[in-house]
Amino acid sequence: MNDILPDEAAKWRLVEDATRTIFSLYGFSELRPPVMERTELFLRGIGDDTDVVEKQMYTFIDKSGDSVTLRPEATACVLRAVIEHGLLNKDPIVKLYSIGPMFRYERPQKGRYRQFHQINAERLGEDGPLADAETLAMAYNLASSILGSDVLLMEVNSLGCKQCRPVFQGALQRFLASRQDNLCGDCKRRMNTNPLRVLDCKVPACKEAVQGAPFIEEHLCEDCRTHYATVLTGLSAFGVHYEKNPRLVRGLDYYTRTTFEITATGLGSQNAIAGGGRYDDLLNILGGPAVGGIGFAFGIERMIMLMGERQERVKGCFVVTQAEPRVEQAALGLMTELRAAGIRVEAAFGKSFKAQMRRADKAGYPFCIIIGATEVDSSTLTVKDMINDVPQRTIKRQDALEEIKPMLFS
Ligand code: HAM
Repeated sequence: MNDILPDEAAKWRLVEDATRTIFSLYGFSELRPPVMERTELFLRGIGDDTDVVEKQMYTFIDKSGDSVTLRPEATACVLRAVIEHGLLNKDPIVKLYSIGPMFRYERPQKGRYRQFHQINAERLGEDGPLADAETLAMAYNLASSILGSDVLLMEVNSLGCKQCRPVFQGALQRFLASRQDNLCGDCKRRMNTNPLRVLDCKVPACKEAVQGAPFIEEHLCEDCRTHYATVLTGLSAFGVHYEKNPRLVRGLDYYTRTTFEITATGLGSQNAIAGGGRYDDLLNILGGPAVGGIGFAFGIERMIMLMGERQERVKGCFVVTQAEPRVEQAALGLMTELRAAGIRVEAAFGKSFKAQMRRADKAGYPFCIIIGATEVDSSTLTVKDMINDVPQRTIKRQDALEEIKPMLFS
């Protein structure tokens, strides 16, 4: 579990602001569910044979004897809220996003934490494949706007439906039975209860053993095949670069048909920045109407890691002064005037000229206002651009506000 320090918090805000802006372009609104739910919700929603339910939940008995769990993911929580508040009765199409912490008791490593944060989106009430394509496009749009598309890979697969998946599971089980001596203990068990999980096992021997396993695409029913094909043409029409990955399965059990993951180069083994897919039965399983949905979640920490040292410029200016009482007083007057106009201002009193400039740069100010004895005597200010290599310029003290305001937003 990490502290998010002030230096990093600016990047978090940038990611959150981009999310709100981009998701609103697709008609999504925000829902803020609590971080804790009854344990039963996740047992029903996520699936018994998943790592999340088997090993990773922070579950405890509260003082009234109820079993509660810190949410390991948001989908089940969002659907619970939709059912509880009858949101689908008010509008047959519901599009919601949430941002916040999730909790999984995992072995921590770079990019994998026990408290981490997700940007989660869920879209309920549309069965057509273009709803899938548009949702994937929204995820891709957010990722590429923050990280640039050159580091991203969107991988897509179809996991079939209640009709065709059992046929595939049967074929997979027969294949796995022939390799069971090479499987880890978990997979030997899961082979019978939930064979798809074996395809997702990270143990090297299991990865090796599933080489040559049948592909689900060969077993899709006609409806699933058509659905998948239309998702792919939709993605191309939305300008999304994707690759089909016939081996892609997800760590949670509720998916049907379309599934996807976005991975990024530069993250090491925990390289998935987002994942999601369609779930046509989940709402019904959780006690809601038989309405399908699709969604995804981004891991914010992984996005922040990829943003690297990119310095965000703050909207404000830094006042550089000379340690002389009448100059400092003039500087204080200027700072008061700027703040009264809603402009962010900082200074570093008593530091050398060089140290002040260094601080302005480090804090991300786009320009400095220099006010020294010369400026006070001539009722001027000197403007130093901190981004572009251009000469300093002099402005009249009385024009300070007029000159500075447009510079903040250029
Ligand atoms: P998930 O694949 O389990 O999906 O998680 C989504 C993303 O959360 C991952 O791609 C990763 O970036 C991040 N993540 C997961 N676990 C950790 C961790 N321990 N530390 C840091 N980051 C992590 C879901 O949670 C689904 N609920 C997504 C979804 C929404 N499907 C439909 N709707």
